[in-house]
Amino acid sequence: MARHYCSLRLWFVLLAAAAVPFTTVSSDVDTYIVHMDMSAMPAAFAHHHSWFAATLSAMAEPSHLATTTCHGLIHVYDHAIHGFSARLSTHQLSQLQKTHGFLSAYPDRLVKLDTTHSYEFLHLNPSSGLWPASNFGEGVIVGVVDSGVWPESESYRENGMPQVPSRWKGACEEGTAFNSSMCNRKLIGARYFNRGLRARDPPVPISVNSPRDMGGHGTHTSSTAVGNYVRGASFFGYAPGTARGMAPRAHLAVYKVSWGGRAATSDVLAGIDKAISDGVDVISLSLGFDDVHLHKDPIAIAAYAAMEKGIFVSTSTGNDGPDFSTLHNGIPWVLTVGAASFDRELACVVDLGDGTSIVAASVYLGEPVLEELPIVFKGACDNLTSLNRVGHKIVVCKGDPDDLDSAISIVGSARVAGGLFTCPTEGCGVRLERFEFPGALISPQDARTIIKYIHRSPAPTARLRFRQTRVRKKQAPSVAEYTSRGPSHSCPNVLKPDLVAPGSQVLASWPQNASVGFVGTRPVHSPFNVISGSSMSCPHASGVAALLRAAHPDWSPAAIRSAMMTTADSLDNTGKPIPDRGNSGEPATPLAMGSGHLNPNRALDPGLIYDAGAGDYMRLLCAMKFSKQQIQAITRSSNHNCSSPSLDLNYPSFIAYFSAGNSSSGAGTGVREFQRTVTNVADGSWTYAARLTPIEGFSLHVEPHKLVFKEKHDKQSFKLLVESKAVMEKGKVVHGWLSWVDDQSKHVVNSPIVATTFTFV
Ligand SMILES: *[C@@H]1O[C@H](CO)[C@@H](O)[C@H](O)[C@H]1NC(C)=O
Ligand SMILES: *[C@@H]1O[C@H](CO)[C@@H](O)[C@H](O)[C@H]1NC(C)=O
Ligand SMILES: *[C@@H]1O[C@H](CO)[C@@H](O)[C@H](O)[C@H]1NC(C)=O
Ligand SMILES: *[C@@H]1O[C@H](CO)[C@@H](O)[C@H](O)[C@H]1NC(C)=O
Ligand SMILES: *[C@@H]1O[C@H](CO)[C@@H](O)[C@H](O)[C@H]1NC(C)=O
Repeated sequence: MARHYCSLRLWFVLLAAAAVPFTTVSSDVDTYIVHMDMSAMPAAFAHHHSWFAATLSAMAEPSHLATTTCHGLIHVYDHAIHGFSARLSTHQLSQLQKTHGFLSAYPDRLVKLDTTHSYEFLHLNPSSGLWPASNFGEGVIVGVVDSGVWPESESYRENGMPQVPSRWKGACEEGTAFNSSMCNRKLIGARYFNRGLRARDPPVPISVNSPRDMGGHGTHTSSTAVGNYVRGASFFGYAPGTARGMAPRAHLAVYKVSWGGRAATSDVLAGIDKAISDGVDVISLSLGFDDVHLHKDPIAIAAYAAMEKGIFVSTSTGNDGPDFSTLHNGIPWVLTVGAASFDRELACVVDLGDGTSIVAASVYLGEPVLEELPIVFKGACDNLTSLNRVGHKIVVCKGDPDDLDSAISIVGSARVAGGLFTCPTEGCGVRLERFEFPGALISPQDARTIIKYIHRSPAPTARLRFRQTRVRKKQAPSVAEYTSRGPSHSCPNVLKPDLVAPGSQVLASWPQNASVGFVGTRPVHSPFNVISGSSMSCPHASGVAALLRAAHPDWSPAAIRSAMMTTADSLDNTGKPIPDRGNSGEPATPLAMGSGHLNPNRALDPGLIYDAGAGDYMRLLCAMKFSKQQIQAITRSSNHNCSSPSLDLNYPSFIAYFSAGNSSSGAGTGVREFQRTVTNVADGSWTYAARLTPIEGFSLHVEPHKLVFKEKHDKQSFKLLVESKAVMEKGKVVHGWLSWVDDQSKHVVNSPIVATTFTFV
């Protein structure tokens, strides 16, 4: 059963692939990413390309290298790292390690890949706020590193688009079913990278060798970020309206690194490297590497180079929630975006014979109406023999709430006309809403209503109407159950994720040739698709970052991120804390939602920002006890200065770790201190006062309590103390807030404060 859950489905492919050791056949040859110290390059070489080639040829083992390019070289990097990727035997690797200028090397790995209405939900409005202030992102270039693009999609039409900026240095590369005339003023660049995948042993077969997207992921993410207006977009009648990206007037450049759901580190690095040199302003990365240290994480390394050039990098958390510490891309110099669901329901209406109608959750792409049929209640769903005796009727049955997948698949293979399934109180999750037969998910309360009707009526009947869309259900948004949570393994002292954005049931463009789902065993096609995942939330944030870049060209990447974080919503549309669907609808903690849900219009005018630059990140890396070589692999700079290490990055959120204790031992109490500097980015002079939302069992202090800014760009510093009053049990997470509020109540600058006894395994 190909249930449609974008990232998850891709992961299955990746997990299976990753389980195979890197070298399968007899040889000990593998692909390595190699970092080199540029300051060690002998003067005889005019260019680092020739130095790397010479270094490699000095170690040539012709028999091993016959199949690959120049001396086994796969990619040479210019910006993202100082170094290259190459096929090397273990013997060659050990020789290389003795070469002057060698810093580090690690094997290539496979990466994990992880809207008509979402812009209204984000309150983007053509006549006020961020859209007009940014001219809809005009002139900004967004680079999407993903599975390529389906250029014929209407989202990439150039009508209304300004000229390609003269600073643009990119290219529209030709290949299978893709020629350069497919680029235009919207899609201004398209490149593809697969030498790393093709050099694997065994090589990954590439059928369409070009930037063309055959899977759909890249078309969906890029049209979400910057798609042009498409009138009358809908998905089989679901979610109708005008589709557009967050920044409809920004330009797009695509870098295809993912092939059939697989991508190699070396190719991802090459894609980001080119995006940097081509001149993009924002990089959107809906993919990530699990369980890697910062100095071996290609996204961390390449994003550092991007940050130094003022390029904003937005990434996804992954879909491994709801457990703690499951996220990837917990990198201090990128934006890390989790997934939320918004106020649109894709629905099936169940009309009972007595005139009652019930709204059920379902996305089914077959016939829109299942006409009136007898309806029966069969108790448990797990008996195919008994289900097969039902015949052409609608079945209501109960599945194991922890394994509803198998209940749905048993009913799907029975010869019944349709099926209704009961979900636990907090819902089943969007993953199960995709049906390949006429089916829908109902709440326990609605199940009772239906079963009561069946028992009471001599000839109970029901009709199912699919393709229904309900906007603005009472409560929204909520944190999606699947979104991966913090804290970040690779950098525990920086609270991650940063925020959440719409990720569930997002409508965006899709390749005509890739199926969007199945009706029975028949694949169905559509120019749009509705899918879910943190992969979908990331491009929402990337598009908003593009708008902020256009509105505030002088802001650093950290300033843009700070503006998005400190203005995010922590309350839902009913004024209550945003609930977490992964935790029975309890209020979400900042380890699930970061600072809250993205609010683009408020981010336009944040009042104060928490800025940071390369020097601050360097001090953090020093304090994290990375070696000189490891730091140099990330920063590419031999100016290694660890004179003032600090774990306390100038970040717009706080996380304090305490050890778990018990009342008799008294362990775990103590004080954690944070230093921050905020910059006034509003015109004129302002006075702010601190407002603290307390944490039970803790006392919070801010010094000073009042900050006075004489003019724009003024900076002021303060200190936050988090003091534990009582011991906390193991694995506990509690939180409060620090808000700076100006005396005219124009700006509220929010930061979450987490106190936890979480320990990493
Ligand atoms: C590129 O493709 C377009 C559309 O398929 C076609 O009209 C055009 O002739 C092609 N151009 C080149 C240079 O191959
Ligand atoms: C399934 O249902 C059939 C017919 O009602 C019954 O004979 C059989 O014992 C059931 N099997 C199980 C495992 O419950
Ligand atoms: C898309 O599908 C059509 C019809 O099957 C086919 O003719 C065309 O070659 C396909 N395009 C690509 C790029 O595979
Ligand atoms: C190292 O950094 C500190 C500030 O962080 C600065 O004062 C010092 O001059 C730097 N040293 C060198 C050698 O660059
Ligand atoms: C509490 O801590 C003390 C000292 O570490 C230890 O001896 C005692 O067993 C602990 N009690 C419980 C209930 O864990």
